[in-house]
Amino acid sequence: MLATSGRALVGASVLSADFGALRQDTASALRAGADFVHVDVMDGHLVPNLSMGPAVCAALRRHFPTVALDVHLMVSDPALFLEPFAKAGADSLTVHLEADGDIRKLIRRIHALGCRAAIAISPPTPSSKVLPYLDEADMVLVMSVHPGYSGQSFMPSALRKAAALRKHMDASQRLEVDGGVDASNARACRDAGFDTLVSASAIFGAADRAAVIRSMHGPAVARRGALSR
Ligand code: DX5
Ligand code: ZN
Repeated sequence: MLATSGRALVGASVLSADFGALRQDTASALRAGADFVHVDVMDGHLVPNLSMGPAVCAALRRHFPTVALDVHLMVSDPALFLEPFAKAGADSLTVHLEADGDIRKLIRRIHALGCRAAIAISPPTPSSKVLPYLDEADMVLVMSVHPGYSGQSFMPSALRKAAALRKHMDASQRLEVDGGVDASNARACRDAGFDTLVSASAIFGAADRAAVIRSMHGPAVARRGALSR
């Protein structure tokens, strides 16, 4: 295992926020130290759930004009949604390798829209499938649960994928983990090479959100680039 590789960025996934008080709950996570907001978009097709669309992203952008919005598109046809979410204020757009479409074209489209581009892989997808696109991607998202729901248990296979990917990535590229991340596994995530940790239930379900986010940040100083444009 590698030595702890620096302070991670922590994203609050609003999938576990109180949707009836989204503004207040998001503000609370940011006050508690979250570095960015993660927006989970589900189409009921690539994953077995529905969540939120561009209007919710636009509302977050209106209320939090300077916060980085990291939009995770768990949809079968991401090409349909890149422009709507870019216009809604997304800073980064993540498309799944398991979705339809030419990944390279999707990355270029995301860049043309002025956003950072990320590729996500679900647990059954080997990390090697990402390698052909690493030259153009700004970030890789390794799912540590089957996408669709918050509140699932962390799958340690994500740690092996991180180690395999990190050695092919340069210092400006981010490696994000999403699913079941909490205070008990955050250090293992950082040590494996993840520099960007996303959490929904562990943050929004905590009595002391700041303590949870501190444990996810880890001790040292950040090395990699910011998530915002
Ligand atoms: C899962 C989503 C995750 C989810 C994480 O499909 O992509 O972002 O909100 O939730 P927790 O942290 O509760 O596993
Ligand atoms: Zn997500």
